[in-house]
Amino acid sequence: MTDRPTPDRRLTDRYGREQRWSPTRWNDTLETVTAHRSVRLWLDRDVDETTLTTVLAAAQSAPSSSNKQTMAVVAVRDRAVKEQLASIGKRMSSHVATAPVLLVWLVDFSQIRFHAAQAGKTGKADAAETSDDAGEIHGVSSQPPHDLGSLDYLDEPVTSVLDIGIASQTAAIAAESLGLGTVYLGSMRNDIGAVQEILGIPQDVVPFLGLALGYGDPEENAGVKPRLPMDLVVHHDRYDDRSGEDGEQERARLLADYDDALAAYFSRYGQHPQWSTQTLHRVSEAAATKTKRHLIRQFLEKAGFGLR
Ligand SMILES: Cc1cc2nc3c(=O)[nH]c(=O)nc-3n(C[C@H](O)[C@H](O)[C@H](O)COP(=O)(O)O)c2cc1C
Repeated sequence: MTDRPTPDRRLTDRYGREQRWSPTRWNDTLETVTAHRSVRLWLDRDVDETTLTTVLAAAQSAPSSSNKQTMAVVAVRDRAVKEQLASIGKRMSSHVATAPVLLVWLVDFSQIRFHAAQAGKTGKADAAETSDDAGEIHGVSSQPPHDLGSLDYLDEPVTSVLDIGIASQTAAIAAESLGLGTVYLGSMRNDIGAVQEILGIPQDVVPFLGLALGYGDPEENAGVKPRLPMDLVVHHDRYDDRSGEDGEQERARLLADYDDALAAYFSRYGQHPQWSTQTLHRVSEAAATKTKRHLIRQFLEKAGFGLR
C-alpha cells in the first residue's frame, strides 16, 4: 500500500489552488516531477558512489546543443571544500556545507579548444584550402577550421549555459526519482573567480551553477511550493500580452491570487514577504551588485568569450 497523494492533490499543492482540470494520464516520472521541492536540511547519510554515478549518467543523457557537449561537472564530497564553497553563498548557506555532495556545473569548451589547438599545430585547415581531395562527409570537411570564431558571439556561452541547465535538471530528476533531495545553488555565481580558485578550475572554464544532493531530513518543515497560475504562463498559439483594461485587471487578479497562495504556503514557517514584493527586491540594482554576479560578463570575457 502506498499513501501517495492523488495526481489532483499534487496539482492542488503545485498551484496552491484546486485545479479546474484533472490529468487523465499519470506515471512515476510525473509523480517525481510534480512532488519536487528544494531540500535544505540533510540526514547524516552518504550518497553512495554508484548512485552518484547513475545520477551523472542521467545528466549526460540530456540533450546537448549540436551535440557539442560543452558541459562538465565537479562532484565535491570533501567537507573542507564544501565549507569554502558555502562561504561564497554567505547568507543561509549551512545547507551547502552539510550536503553530502555538491555538483558544480561548468561551461567547458576544453575538448573543443583541444581539437582546435591540435588542428592548428598540424596546419590541417591550411591544407584544406589547398588540397583538392579533402574528404567531406555530409558537407563537413575532414580538414576543419580552427579559428573558434563563433566563441566571439554571445550565443555560444548562452547555449552552453542552457546545456548545463538541462543536464543539471536531468540529474535532479534522476536523483529525486531515487529518493534523494536536491537544491540548486545559484550562489556559485556570487563569485565565479573564487569557485574557480577553490576547485582548481582554469580561467577558460566557467562554473555557473551548483546542485546539492543528499537524503532530505523529514524534520525539515517544507512542502511543495506553489507556482504562478498557468493562465499567466501558458499561451496558446499566440502570446497574450494582456494589454487593455480587462487584460490588466485579469493579470492583477491572478497575481494577487498567487501572492495569497504563496502567503498560505509560507504561513506555516511564520511571516514571509509577499512574492511580488520579494521579487522586486531580487531584481533591484542593489541585489545585482550585492555579490559579484554583476561581473559575470568579465568572467566570460576572461574565459575567451567575445559576447558580441
Ligand atoms: C538557477 C537556480 C538557482 C538557485 N539558487 C539557489 C541558492 O543559491 N540557494 C538556495 O537555497 N536555493 C536556490 N534555488 C532554489 C530556489 O529557491 C527554489 O527552486 C524556488 O524557491 C522554488 O522552490 P522549490 O524548488 O522548493 O519548488 C535555486 C534555483 C534555481 C533554479
